[in-house]
Amino acid sequence: MKYKIGIIGSGNIGGTLGKHFAKAGHAVMFSSRHPEELEPLAEQAGNGAQVGTVEEAAQFGDVLLLAYPFGKTPEVAGKVGNLADKVLIDANNYYPGRDGAAPKEEMEKKGLLETEWTASYFPGAHVVKAFNSIFYKTLEARAFDKANPLAIPFAASDKDGREVIENLLHSIGFVGVSLGDLSQTKISQPDEKLYTLQVSEKELRNLI
Ligand SMILES: NC(=O)c1ccc[n+]([C@@H]2O[C@H](COP(=O)([O-])OP(=O)(O)OC[C@H]3O[C@@H](n4cnc5c(N)ncnc54)[C@H](OP(=O)(O)O)[C@@H]3O)[C@@H](O)[C@H]2O)c1
Repeated sequence: MKYKIGIIGSGNIGGTLGKHFAKAGHAVMFSSRHPEELEPLAEQAGNGAQVGTVEEAAQFGDVLLLAYPFGKTPEVAGKVGNLADKVLIDANNYYPGRDGAAPKEEMEKKGLLETEWTASYFPGAHVVKAFNSIFYKTLEARAFDKANPLAIPFAASDKDGREVIENLLHSIGFVGVSLGDLSQTKISQPDEKLYTLQVSEKELRNLI
């Protein structure tokens, strides 16, 4: 199954994964607040990868990778409007020094984990948490590793999200291991048990 994937935030994580997705034959559009700077990345990705504004990438993708500073979700959601029925893959992590106190206050007040907070800004979307717990250089080096595939923990708000992330992970040479729904994702947040782990499927299943 090939997808149209909009990358929102095309730095270390978005750039790396966008290149992998293009190599796997998915249609990719990279975006950021400065899309003109992303032309060399799209060229490097090849396979017809395009560049656009955040709004254009959100329109383009059936699947959107969220890979910008965590605290920018309210701003991004305000720009892109309704994303109901799209699959959103949240790779973002909350870092107080970078993202400020406001997201933490809202998460605490509403009793939300990080990706539940993200999901609260995109009603009706199929939301997935994935790629947040792996250093981008590991994602770069270990993709398409048929002999020793790296396991990637993910969680999905529903069946549609789960199917897409499993297919996508497989297409770029990783094995997805489900943590359950978004309420089960504390374990993969910063400084928790799975954060930055590089393990096989068997090892990961033994940890959860
Ligand atoms: N680095 C890692 O290894 C790693 C691993 C797992 C998860 N993460 C998480 O993934 C996210 C991205 O990290 P990164 O290391 O890839 O960051 P990065 O290299 O700094 O890239 C961030 C990207 O987001 C764009 N951006 C910034 N503000 C934006 C906004 N308001 N709207 C739209 N795009 C915006 C930036 O471009 P412009 O400034 O031009 O808009 C840039 O393309 C973070 O939440 C991080 O915690 C990182």
